[in-house]
Amino acid sequence: MALLSLTSAPVQIKAINILGIETSCDETAAAVVADGRIVKSSIVASQTKLHEKYGGVVPEIASRAHIEKIYPVIAKAMEQAGVSKDDIDAIAVANQPGLTIALIVGVTAAKTLSLAWGKPLIAINHLHAHLQSAMLSEEDLQHRQVSCGLPAVALVVSGGHTCLYDYHSPLEPKLLGSTIDDAAGEAFDKVANILKLPYPGGPSIEKTAKNGNPNAIKFPRSMLGRDSLDFSFSGIKTAVLYYCRGQDMKGEDKVDSMSEQEIADIAASFQAAVVDVLVKKTQRAAKKIGAKTILLGGGVAANNELRESLQKMCDTAKPPLKLLVAPKKYCTDNAVMVASLGYHKFKAKLFADLTLEPKATG
Ligand code: KG4
Ligand code: ZN
Repeated sequence: MALLSLTSAPVQIKAINILGIETSCDETAAAVVADGRIVKSSIVASQTKLHEKYGGVVPEIASRAHIEKIYPVIAKAMEQAGVSKDDIDAIAVANQPGLTIALIVGVTAAKTLSLAWGKPLIAINHLHAHLQSAMLSEEDLQHRQVSCGLPAVALVVSGGHTCLYDYHSPLEPKLLGSTIDDAAGEAFDKVANILKLPYPGGPSIEKTAKNGNPNAIKFPRSMLGRDSLDFSFSGIKTAVLYYCRGQDMKGEDKVDSMSEQEIADIAASFQAAVVDVLVKKTQRAAKKIGAKTILLGGGVAANNELRESLQKMCDTAKPPLKLLVAPKKYCTDNAVMVASLGYHKFKAKLFADLTLEPKATG
């Protein structure tokens, strides 16, 4: 009869290492993440300088820059993580939504490495990955565990999207509502353009708004009906435009003659209106599904006003809600969130094959 030895060496459970790749817009990013939470490396090559003079992302320029940077960025992520191809268990890549001519660069690189290294390929929805970054919140990282009371409402606010999800698991967030026109980040970028503030607009508006009065101008808050969980930000943007150029758009552009204080007041009032709508809609969604937790991710999640207002809403809710916000470094596009979500898909054996294609929507 075989006896179990009580003195045998402890079994070493090998970590699952996922290489994540992200090229959906204007950041070329790669990261190696172990077990979905331990960030071994994160490399982001930003293209901000290339797009700055156009006041927005130029897809053709973005695609060319991704082609130039993708392999050096991946090599650096592997080197920084101290891993070789043999240590990688799978390659996760954002294949939707985004600019197709940008996504295709990451998808092609991931497919090539998957074939050459003989490793599984995992397709990642970029927006779901932004949600995953909220699960990497600092507090939980320290404890190396996720404490997310379910169900949760998840808000993704980025340059291209504004979405609310009913979140029961990382694998199947269910869309509750989204923007019917501009995304929140897009509104920040366009208003920064109107106010002639530097690109990218979100951080510029936030910085300028610090010196402004958020109650100086009452910009409209579009709630779209009592029960709607959709968003509309084009009205706020147009209201700022009319405020600066007159209702008929025929008057002179007043921005050049405005004082710094006036510009700061517009920025602060605009920011307050956007944050107000985002918080109220999130609260509405939380009530609707009986949420216990709110998750926040995406580029606009870096905004302190939004973070603080959501926190206040969660603290004063009855019963209070838990808020998990993506760490600032993982709010804007990165590959850590891609690799982290890739881990969950790996565990669920949700693999893609070499026919994987980029998709603009998703
Ligand atoms: O998630 P992201 O990096 O890219 C997309 O997936 O679109 O988000 C970029 C967006 C831009 O619109 C940028 O202006 C906005 O996030 N953003 C901010 C802040 N930092 C970045 N918006 C408001 N406040 C910020 N601090
Ligand atoms: Zn994004």
